[in-house]
Parts: sequence; structure tokens; C-alpha cells
Amino acid sequence: MPRPLRLGVNIDHVATIRNARGGRFPDPVRAALLAVEAGADGITAHLREDRRHISDADIETLREQVTAPLNLEMAATEEMLRIALRHKPHAACIVPEKREERTTEGGLDAASGHNHLKPFVSALREAGIRVSLFVEPDRKQLDAAVTLGAPVVELHTGAYCEAEGEGRERELARLTDAAAHAEAVGLECHAGHGLSYDTVAPIAEIPTIVELNIGHFLVGEAIFVGLADSIRGMRERMDRARGLA
Ligand code: PXP
Repeated sequence: MPRPLRLGVNIDHVATIRNARGGRFPDPVRAALLAVEAGADGITAHLREDRRHISDADIETLREQVTAPLNLEMAATEEMLRIALRHKPHAACIVPEKREERTTEGGLDAASGHNHLKPFVSALREAGIRVSLFVEPDRKQLDAAVTLGAPVVELHTGAYCEAEGEGRERELARLTDAAAHAEAVGLECHAGHGLSYDTVAPIAEIPTIVELNIGHFLVGEAIFVGLADSIRGMRERMDRARGLA
């Protein structure tokens, strides 16, 4: 029997649309509640330093109104740590963050960032928050996650999604190798970034990946089919590829 594959729906870009005008619509918390109804196993939100999409108030309301697990994506900064410890989400995914980037470009350098990251991983773990590190599909980064005491890694699928032809096959091979290595060294393995209906199946087929976090495509597709159908379509493709449907 294949392992279940969880879907974390990232609602950041519902907030992006809201913030384009200011005001309250569309409401990312309503999107989160609908996402769970449509088959999401959890909600993911990235509170960025510049608050370009999700706001502090969104995190507060998500914690009050959504009972599904919340995965807070956060940079390793004192400010974000304070916020995470205050809200105690189910999970925190530590991501690299550059102010000028459009989205999270590249994974965290867990290998050379050990001394900076260690206190963040420890403090989050002590608070009972499941910590993951968003890393490139590279064995060295996974070994560094083990050394840091992080129980989970999320593999960056951005390069795989952007590549075409043989390049994509190469990136898929890197992801497959990293996911197998994760299991061998005792890490729970997640994946995400840039996934769409066209790219999700080969990732869902990798048996040691147990969670995908997907946002931008789902919110975009929702413009055409509505958020619930957009999510259901992803769930179906994931479950079919995994051999669960
Ligand atoms: N996982 C992580 C760690 C991310 O930073 C992001 C983007 O915020 C995602 C998954 C989702 O990426 P996308 O919005 O491209 O599906």
C-alpha cells in the first residue's frame, strides 16, 4: 500500500490579490477554510519580512479559525521566531528570504549556515513545533539538516518545474535521489515550489515524499474553475500518481 501524500495549500497569493487593493477581499482565511473542505490536509502561509502578502493579523485569524495544521514558512530571524513561538503553529518551515526576490529563490544553505540556524531549530523544537528546512535536493543539505536536529526537509522543486526535456529529467533524478537519501538518514521528506497539474505527478510518484506544499498555481487556477475545484484537481492528480485513487 503506497504511503499517503498530504497536500498543504499555500494561501499567500490570495493575500497578494487582497493587498493589490488594500481592504479585506479576497480573505485568505476564507480560502483556508475552503481549501480544507476541498481536500487540503493543511494550510501553509509565508509571513515575509516585508509583509507583501500574508499579514500578522492573517496568522492570528488563521490560528483562531482554522483547525487544520498550519505550516508557517519563516526566515530565520529573531522577529519571525518570536511570532512563531507566540502562535505555535503545527509546523514551521525555515526558508531563505531576500527582500528583492519575487519568490523564494533556491533553498536554505543548511550546510554552511549551521551556526546561525541551530538556535532557531532548537527553539522551535523545544516549543513543540515540527521544524522543516527548505533545501535544494542535495545530499549535503540533508546531512546538514540531520546535524541541525531538524526532523523534516522540504525539497525545492523550482528548478525541476522550470526545466524542460532532459533538464527536467535531470532535476527529477536529483529529487528522487534526495528523497531516498532523506529516508535513509531518518528525515521526513516534503517537496514544493512551482508545482502545477503538469509537473505534480512525477513528484507524487516518489514514494518517500509524504507532503507537497502548493500555492501559486492553485490560486491562479482558481480564477478559472474556483478554488475548491482547483484543489480537487490537484488532489486527484496526486492520488492517481501515488496509486491511491
Ligand atoms: N514551499 C515553500 C517552502 C515555499 O516557500 C513556497 C512558496 O512560498 C511553496 C512551497 C509553494 O510554492 P508555489 O506557490 O510556487 O506553489
